[in-house]
Amino acid sequence: MADPALPVSAEAPIGVFDSGIGGLSVLRHVHALLPSEELLYFADSGFAPYGEKPEHIVVERALAITAFLLRFKIKAIVVACNTATAAAIAALRKRHPLLQVVGVEPGLKPAAQLTQTGKVGVLATAGTLASDKFLKLRQQVAETAQVEFHLQACNGLADQIEKGELASRETRQMVRRYVAPLVGQAVDTLVLGCTHYPFVEPLVREAAGPDVRLVDTGEPVARQLQRLLSQHALLRPEAAGAGSVSAYTTGSRSALANAFRRLLELDPTVEVVAVE
Ligand code: DGL
Repeated sequence: MADPALPVSAEAPIGVFDSGIGGLSVLRHVHALLPSEELLYFADSGFAPYGEKPEHIVVERALAITAFLLRFKIKAIVVACNTATAAAIAALRKRHPLLQVVGVEPGLKPAAQLTQTGKVGVLATAGTLASDKFLKLRQQVAETAQVEFHLQACNGLADQIEKGELASRETRQMVRRYVAPLVGQAVDTLVLGCTHYPFVEPLVREAAGPDVRLVDTGEPVARQLQRLLSQHALLRPEAAGAGSVSAYTTGSRSALANAFRRLLELDPTVEVVAVE
């Protein structure tokens, strides 16, 4: 059911969610760009990964998490997950027409501008690559630019990152296995099409070599959020005080707290919640 009567205030918090810790690669840019905002991060680690689940399950999770975050009267939500954006952003916008909804999508457009060889590799989850939304994006970019996209689903990689294995032998081998065929196709640009992957960027660089450029969309997403809030007069005034970060997880409290510390050098309160 839609909720057109959603109360909207510039002082309200912003929700950010992902299947797990991947969305922290987006949150870090949001926090840096909008330091006065109150950010509520939701890691659905109890239900991760999303990338190998049927689309309707991901839609259900996205709707349930958004309903949970709306209890805090959020003014905006950032779907900091490519898989959930592809599966659920249309359903979220339909159900919550007054909520500002920002999604992430693999950076095909910036990659098409960067490539010199016209060959771009895309690393993403199986769910993202199989989605209609991705298919449309790919067609749209192909209509305006002469680019060959080489797609690689990275099954298991988000799991390795969830486990905190950012540099283990297994993760390194996995990254090499996924990146090598793309390098073999002579791509000169690689899109990190899953928000978990920026956390293994050194491994991707190592596997791809120094001449391949990487595209991550965390920063443009933060700027899009800023634009949207500004357009709707919803940027939190500095006079309202310093911003903050709080976190919720359907998985382990210590795993999320450790990820915040290790990846973002932040120490927010983390609460375990059941969201069905
Ligand atoms: N971080 C998510 C994305 O951007 C997906 C990881 C997963 O749960 O499979 O696609």
